[in-house]
Amino acid sequence: MNVSKPCILVTGGTGYIGSHTVVALIEQGFDVVIADNLCNSELFILDRIEEISGVRPRFYQVELCNVSEIESLFDQEKSIKAVIHFAALKAVGDSVNAPLAYYKNNLASLISLLEAMQHASVKHLVFSSSCTVYGEPDHLPVTESTPIKSALSPYGNTKQIGEEILVDHTKASDTSCIALRYFNPVGAHSSALIGELPIGTPNNLVPFITQSAIGKLGPLRVFGNDYNTPDGTCIRDYIHVEDVALAHVAAMNRMLKSEQKDSFEVFNIGTGNGNTVLEVIQAFELSTGMNLNYSICDRREGDIEKVYADTSRSNQILGWKAEKTLLEMMASAWAWEKQLSNTIK
Ligand code: NAD
Ligand code: WQD
Repeated sequence: MNVSKPCILVTGGTGYIGSHTVVALIEQGFDVVIADNLCNSELFILDRIEEISGVRPRFYQVELCNVSEIESLFDQEKSIKAVIHFAALKAVGDSVNAPLAYYKNNLASLISLLEAMQHASVKHLVFSSSCTVYGEPDHLPVTESTPIKSALSPYGNTKQIGEEILVDHTKASDTSCIALRYFNPVGAHSSALIGELPIGTPNNLVPFITQSAIGKLGPLRVFGNDYNTPDGTCIRDYIHVEDVALAHVAAMNRMLKSEQKDSFEVFNIGTGNGNTVLEVIQAFELSTGMNLNYSICDRREGDIEKVYADTSRSNQILGWKAEKTLLEMMASAWAWEKQLSNTIK
């Protein structure tokens, strides 16, 4: 039995990474409150979190761009000690077509949240950042001190500006923040009860693979095999979402124990391994025993050739390390896809 730990507000807690983090926090003894407007998630995820963890987190349907809604949540939940802020819109392509929606949602929600935290004297924040801030890096693996390049999309820019807002705000106040730059989170919970719920046709590789394999979509198109990589396809640092969730627990413990050296710290959250698209397909086939139908197509505009993390800082300072293999990522993504097709129409 865990000793009871402080109350954490998780924004975006019914979403993909948020729901796995809520489970990890509950399993470590934290009390959890979720705030989400359900624009990209479903209420049944709360049932699933309860089924996995035995605890139903308190849920508030809150629009985070509205500061008074967040203040009212803090007024009702006076024991909140820290916040993990996942809530954001995240579709890179959509952000190119609707930049204002992305700047408004992702930045107004961050600013409103910080204002409401001041109102409630809540001083600790973990922020969801992204490897997208590095763009196409000049050197690999990417360390946290790799220079930030011009963002390739409005979405990416919201992460860069979000970090800048937090640098300035933590300097000017007694708030402390840890920004976690995730690489490519994939896979699902080992129970297959929670996972990613892409709306419409997925843009990301792994949900496309699983939906194609189950017959919801046609064959996978591999975007380019003429890159400067061993098999010509792009390289990414795919990381199991359960490992990403545990990184948040590590960051939260660091903040709550006042171990931070700076009021704003940043960590890469990846495995440190780069895999090509063809290696991901092979891992899917190996872990499921299926053959995936795919063809090689033209490059996708805006794709980075290769990027993977140097994780030494997060390994040493957070005391966290990604443990799960690419085969486990693919097997869990497939188990989730099969479960979804059985239960959700
Ligand atoms: P998700 O869409 O599954 O979850 C985000 C949640 O936030 C959703 O439940 C949505 O309903 C909620 N939300 C969005 N705007 C809101 C608002 N204004 N008010 C209240 N709730 C709101 O996304 P995810 O994949 O879990 O990503 C979580 C975070 O991690 C995001 O900030 C995303 O940018 C970042 N990130 C994700 C990835 C990835 O590949 N999934 C990679 C790097 C960074
Ligand atoms: C991975 C690889 C594609 C689909 C995105 C966001 C980034 C960050 C992480 C949030 C690439 C190839 C894909 C397909 C393919 N998210 N691919 N066929 O592009 O690394 O990054 O997620 O912060 O901001 O842009 O991820 O999963 O889209 O692509 O061949 O149908 O798979 O070309 O090489 P990406 P992805």
